[in-house]
Amino acid sequence: MINIALPKGRLGEKIYDLFERAGYECPSIKEKSRKLIFENEEKGVRYFWVKPSDVSIYVERGAADIGVCGKDILAEYSPEVYELLDMKTGICRLAVAAKKGFYDDGKHTLKVATKFVNCAKRYYAQKSRDIDIIHLNGSIEIAPILGLSDVIVDIVETGSTLKENDLEVVETIFPISARLIANKASFKFKTKEIENLVEQVKGLLSEKEL
Ligand code: PRP
Repeated sequence: MINIALPKGRLGEKIYDLFERAGYECPSIKEKSRKLIFENEEKGVRYFWVKPSDVSIYVERGAADIGVCGKDILAEYSPEVYELLDMKTGICRLAVAAKKGFYDDGKHTLKVATKFVNCAKRYYAQKSRDIDIIHLNGSIEIAPILGLSDVIVDIVETGSTLKENDLEVVETIFPISARLIANKASFKFKTKEIENLVEQVKGLLSEKEL
């Protein structure tokens, strides 16, 4: 049995569809319910819906053998997991954004609001820029508007949240896509099962590229 942690939401549903097409279906997952765990014994899979930012915790600690999460989460928390495959979906980027026309003259400590504290710290350390981190949990775009911060470090997908709040991208930090990750011990003991699944999914992803 392979235990798979999926990120709850649109991305997770897309990922499940891909796994289903790869031969790892579990029809009960599509029934309308509030259940979070679904199993197909015959196919040897058990799926869990978890909060996207928690997928790597389940996988790192072995509650799930594999899972799918964004590169942003891997960069922020550096979980001890294997990254097996770029799923080429859930594509967005981590970027610095500010109010239109903002210019950093470098004279003062830069106030940076973000959910991605480690990524922001690393990024500015590498630029030797002094910053004051303000850790927020969501709606980060409000911070520069209300003067809570000078800039934000956040995810930009379509760019419409920034646009609708009169903000703009200053710089892209790194591109993001969903990654298939595996627990290290599971990969050792279920190598064949996990590798088979990865191969099937990889095949479908390359078909998509054609
Ligand atoms: C993310 C991100 C931005 C938005 C970007 O927020 O934090 O707010 O998506 O998408 P866009 O460029 O397509 O507008 P999310 O919906 O995850 O909620 P959050 O406010 O909790 O971060």
